[in-house]
Amino acid sequence: MDSYISIKKSQAKHYIATPLYIQNGAGEFVLYKPENKKLDSKLFLDEGFPSLFISVDMKDFAKNELENQLKSRLKTQIKSGNLKIIKTALCEIVQEAMQDPLEDNLNKLPETIEIMYSEYSNTKNLLKNYIDTIAGGISLIEHSVDVMVFSLNYCLFCNFPENETKKISMGALLHDVGLTQIPKNIVLAKQKLTEKEYIVYKTHPAIGHDIIKTIGGIDSSINTGVLEHHERLDGKGYPRGIANLSFEGRLIGLIDSFDQLVSSEKGYRKKKMPFEAMQIIQTETLKEAKFDKKIFKDFCLSLSDKLRLT
Ligand SMILES: [Fe+2]
Ligand SMILES: [Fe+2]
Repeated sequence: MDSYISIKKSQAKHYIATPLYIQNGAGEFVLYKPENKKLDSKLFLDEGFPSLFISVDMKDFAKNELENQLKSRLKTQIKSGNLKIIKTALCEIVQEAMQDPLEDNLNKLPETIEIMYSEYSNTKNLLKNYIDTIAGGISLIEHSVDVMVFSLNYCLFCNFPENETKKISMGALLHDVGLTQIPKNIVLAKQKLTEKEYIVYKTHPAIGHDIIKTIGGIDSSINTGVLEHHERLDGKGYPRGIANLSFEGRLIGLIDSFDQLVSSEKGYRKKKMPFEAMQIIQTETLKEAKFDKKIFKDFCLSLSDKLRLT
């Protein structure tokens, strides 16, 4: 008997060539949508979004179709110019890649960076208002996309060479991939972590570094930024407590901290308005010497006028 695997309901609309199946009351899998036909969204809605499946023999074909559909959707959304819609399309791609990062799913992400770079490299100002897409209580996926877009915008603003821009953006997108291997109750904790939990949490840069090293198709030179994104110039960061940081580590660390402040709401910490968050980073840069002054200044300048402190 054929085997079937379930698909995410939110992704059902992206399968056109791939046939989809539904399980009937007797537990049998019956055709719900034939190949080369779009899903009838009205019927799907009227039926209360039933669980759908693909044949296990079609797994690779379906995965390919989904990736291509998501990429072409991203290209279409970029043309809309609406950053919120673009962010949603990016999140769908990253969600797909990160749900099982050890299963060779991450190596499709460089193509996403390629699309973003080729669409934005000639129109640098289009990303500077990205901050308007930030909403409270974001997921790891949204956070990863935020840090990537801010980093891409920074590199474009500073006229970095194409290769370096793509590498930094990729490192930014994957900076927290190690968190996918940390227990969810620790990653999603609303309360301050216990000492034990914090020790586990602090392993995520090294875990991310190892994941990237073992995955083909990703330039491992992005790894320094991933490993060092929680290190600080005052030597009080982790995992190694080093003060001599790479440029990527300094940049991704600063942008990561900024995004955490504006988007993440924890029981012990209220989410900050962007200007307020920038002021906190400014204090940590100028008074506490945690971040690089030039990177801070350029980061401010790369963003919309309302966020410029310098
Ligand atoms: Fe992190
Ligand atoms: Fe992060």
